[in-house]
Amino acid sequence: MGAGPRIGIFDSGIGGLTIAAAVRRTLPSEHLVYFGDNAHVPYGERTSGEILALSTAITEALLDKGCRSIVIACNTASNAALSPLRERFPHTPFVGMEPAVKPAVEHTRTGVVGVLATKATVEGRSMAAIVERFAKGVEVIQQACPGLAQRIDNGDFDTVETEVLLRNWIEPMLERGIDALVLGCTHYPLVRPLIERIAGPGVRVIEPSAAIARRLAQLLADHGLTAPPEAPGRLECFTSGDPERFHAVLGRLGLRADAVKHGLWLPDGSLSLP
Ligand code: DGL
Repeated sequence: MGAGPRIGIFDSGIGGLTIAAAVRRTLPSEHLVYFGDNAHVPYGERTSGEILALSTAITEALLDKGCRSIVIACNTASNAALSPLRERFPHTPFVGMEPAVKPAVEHTRTGVVGVLATKATVEGRSMAAIVERFAKGVEVIQQACPGLAQRIDNGDFDTVETEVLLRNWIEPMLERGIDALVLGCTHYPLVRPLIERIAGPGVRVIEPSAAIARRLAQLLADHGLTAPPEAPGRLECFTSGDPERFHAVLGRLGLRADAVKHGLWLPDGSLSLP
């Protein structure tokens, strides 16, 4: 066991590891417990009721594992579950994700920015609220990317098929003049090189992992939950999918975990983490 309180991080699959990697860099002494629900990816094509039920069971399992704060490292789950989870677990600090529209609006000179996200995020209430709050006369083109998170979760990072999909979504936005492109799903930074190649040097690609890690650091400090600086930080991973395939992605993000263990969904809808 690490010396400090544990931080639970979860996502529908491997996407949240892009957030875990940023948290690891910002807070190297913390003990992170990551759960990837690879058995249920993609969340972006599920109903908000389903996503809330899964997110609630995952939160309960992470709290049982000794986590004292939770990062919902998934835009789709944050949209469906962040407010209800905060209400249900009022003593647990939560950090959620939202598409980084604000920095894109601050960056743009053309007055047109793009957002790539899952269908559920594009159609969700938080997206509408963020655009309403931050767009301020800037055109925000929202593009749902059905199938992309699933493809990335399968390890399809740089195939011709993934490139064709991305071109079909990004090129029409380029024609409309975007100069900033927000990655509104935590899976998408795993194909950032491909996205940058398609978007070209005139478009800034924006994703919020470093900002999320800083927000978490502040929240831990506010709640007196920061691990002592001499604590040896660790990453413990669980997946409801295949631990070996999951393990392969860690190296890609410069992450090392003690082990990747299998988390089991039980027939009553609860999650068991060994
Ligand atoms: N990584 C997720 C997100 O940030 C969800 C991908 C999915 O399961 O559809 O939205």
